[in-house]
Amino acid sequence: MCAVELKKGKREYQNGEGFRIYKHAAHNRMYYIELEDDVVNQFLEDLRDVSDEQLEYIPYMRLVVADKLLQLTSEDFGRMVRDILHDRETGGFTIGLQNQTTDPQDFVKFSTALSHLAGLPNFDAMSGKYYARFAVKHTDSSDSYLRQAYRLFTLHTDGTYVDEPTDWLLMMKMDEQNAMGGRSRLLHLDDWEDLDHFYHHPLAAYPFKYKAPASKNVEEDVYRQTFYEQNNKPCICFIDQFAYPETIDHANYLKDLSSSMENSEATIGLDLPVGDLIMLNNRFWLHGREPFEENTQLHRELLRQRGRFAK
Ligand SMILES: [Fe+2]
Repeated sequence: MCAVELKKGKREYQNGEGFRIYKHAAHNRMYYIELEDDVVNQFLEDLRDVSDEQLEYIPYMRLVVADKLLQLTSEDFGRMVRDILHDRETGGFTIGLQNQTTDPQDFVKFSTALSHLAGLPNFDAMSGKYYARFAVKHTDSSDSYLRQAYRLFTLHTDGTYVDEPTDWLLMMKMDEQNAMGGRSRLLHLDDWEDLDHFYHHPLAAYPFKYKAPASKNVEEDVYRQTFYEQNNKPCICFIDQFAYPETIDHANYLKDLSSSMENSEATIGLDLPVGDLIMLNNRFWLHGREPFEENTQLHRELLRQRGRFAK
């Protein structure tokens, strides 16, 4: 049960110490958390001497930056972040740095603070650290849809090909130039019209093989059920690109599931300004990306973290 209870008014909100929570303008299941400018400025000021390298090499520094955000707000802030992410009815929010900085180092610190309030990030083998930054440009020669600007990036969950829990996902917009389109696409599992059909299908619990392409630096194959239960509710683990079905029936199940989600009226596009991040429960939210409009000068960079909930 989420502790967020929005007051009715011109714009529904809940007040906290140094922050305010609103219903998200783009999605009725999500929240937008607004930090007060003083909190953001003090956070940046107090952590001015913390470098990316320190965060990377000294794991306790990541928790120190999370603690700074709690000191400038209250323990309630951290609890609220976790409550929203755990709550089946929502499970997602956006939050940003209120245009107080454009320094990528500040973005790394802020995303680290948020991820460490939720839990601990997994090691990201693609980058060799706890977060990965990746750019989408006009041209791409990589081996997955992640960096291919002009294709629809189909709905999926993260962490399908790694053998560790991926409870939540964080994406922060680091930079964006000459970018039209490319919005995040989001679908909450409970809004999907065909969930019952695919969840009760004989192949719903079949352990499909998942294999990562070379760029992900993950060697082992893993076997994953598409659907499983947590807290008596269905959860999903799926990405079209890395599943290796063994029969025509298996392939048709996965293909039909993917196209049903792609065609769902509940799939919503969401704009994320530079300096904002989105956090989602990765067990019952699917995400993807709309294609960008062609532009030879296109440049967009995201930072991602995925991980486990704190015990
Ligand atoms: Fe993803």
